[in-house]
Amino acid sequence: MNIAEIIAWKRDGGELSAAQIAWVVDKFARGEIADAQMSALAMAIFFQDMTIEETIQLTSSMLHSGKPLVWPESDRPKLDKHSTGGIGDKISLPLAPVWAALGIDVPMISGRGLGPTGGTLDKLESIPGFQVNLSREAMVNVVREVGCVIVSASSDFAPADKRLYALRDVTGTVASIPLITASILSKKLSEGLDALVMDIKWGSGAFMKQRSKALELANRIVAVARQLGTPTRAILTDMNQPIGRMIGNACEVDESLDILEGHGPSDTRELTMVLATHGLLSVGFESQWATAWRQVETVLANGAAREKFAAMVRAQHGDLNQFQRSFQRVPFVATVDGWIQRFDCEKFGYAIIEMGGGRKQATDLLDYRCGIELLVEVGNKVERGQPLLHLLDHPQPSARVLEILQQAIMITQEPPVLSTGEAPWMLVEQNEFA
Ligand code: URA
Repeated sequence: MNIAEIIAWKRDGGELSAAQIAWVVDKFARGEIADAQMSALAMAIFFQDMTIEETIQLTSSMLHSGKPLVWPESDRPKLDKHSTGGIGDKISLPLAPVWAALGIDVPMISGRGLGPTGGTLDKLESIPGFQVNLSREAMVNVVREVGCVIVSASSDFAPADKRLYALRDVTGTVASIPLITASILSKKLSEGLDALVMDIKWGSGAFMKQRSKALELANRIVAVARQLGTPTRAILTDMNQPIGRMIGNACEVDESLDILEGHGPSDTRELTMVLATHGLLSVGFESQWATAWRQVETVLANGAAREKFAAMVRAQHGDLNQFQRSFQRVPFVATVDGWIQRFDCEKFGYAIIEMGGGRKQATDLLDYRCGIELLVEVGNKVERGQPLLHLLDHPQPSARVLEILQQAIMITQEPPVLSTGEAPWMLVEQNEFA
């Protein structure tokens, strides 16, 4: 086969055969296809899209570029959740220990911050000593001992994705539905799961700004994962408001601990419970929504999930006793009277990056402590001089940080028209995946 011909065929709208895709991924993973050629192919896929069959083959080839985990059949069920990333999205932190407390194993491979959205691994590293780089054996041992682990993808897991993602990141080819599908699923399916729950975000605080695009991605991911043998369901989440009140690294761990201790913001608690309940239904742990929901409520109320989180932190060499749960607060106030019309949520993420809590370059070291505590919601009436948010552990914000925060919160003289009674998340109906 000839890579130049394959690129040209895709560029002109041709459908790639399973053999062509398998050949390209194999050669690329071995370093036998040049980065320029793989980038050109990614761009051709970006413009021409892929069929479901092509996406399945791409995902499968990328998955098998590494060594997926295989668990004995007698083991406890293996379950995971993946979110496409949103501002304030800390749900993996309470969710993994909830499932572990109920007897389900969660071998979670997670990521770092991507653009303005924070990463679960960065949040966990704000706990002194916490190790996200575990060997495959150590990862399996933590799952066996504790029931949940949250780690970065080692080179055993979908190495083709690691190389391709790095190219996509610098060639404007990230936002392609087949490439995102193959990238996410090649890593997640490497965990050897019995079921997967996807949280697909849309809105100003997400990667996908339009709900219709998020729905398209949800459909593609669920169809491909199911074809590859992993029962998967997706919910779509509105990210036009951040999740919870805390945005940053340490402060999001703090808010997750609040949830695990039976309090915390109601949206964060509810989203954790919705995803946890879907997970219990997907692995057949429960068959009724109401009973599954009560099981989740119980482990959040009786401290069992909190204990699992502490056990996971210990097993990953972290020390929760050294984790500071108090933050120095500096108010950021409204400069006019009015109503909170809307948030440009992404801007909160850019403010965190500017404060040092996210990366401008892949090699940047993070200030884990800085963060934002949001004090208002869309629809609130505010007065000039009223605090809209607190800057956490960041006493001297730069003019640029303040400018970004001004842009993040739109205050108008008229109240916003709010949609009534709609849940900010919904299950994408199963028949949409056909
Ligand atoms: N997250 C991933 O892991 N891959 C993508 O392509 C996009 C988001």
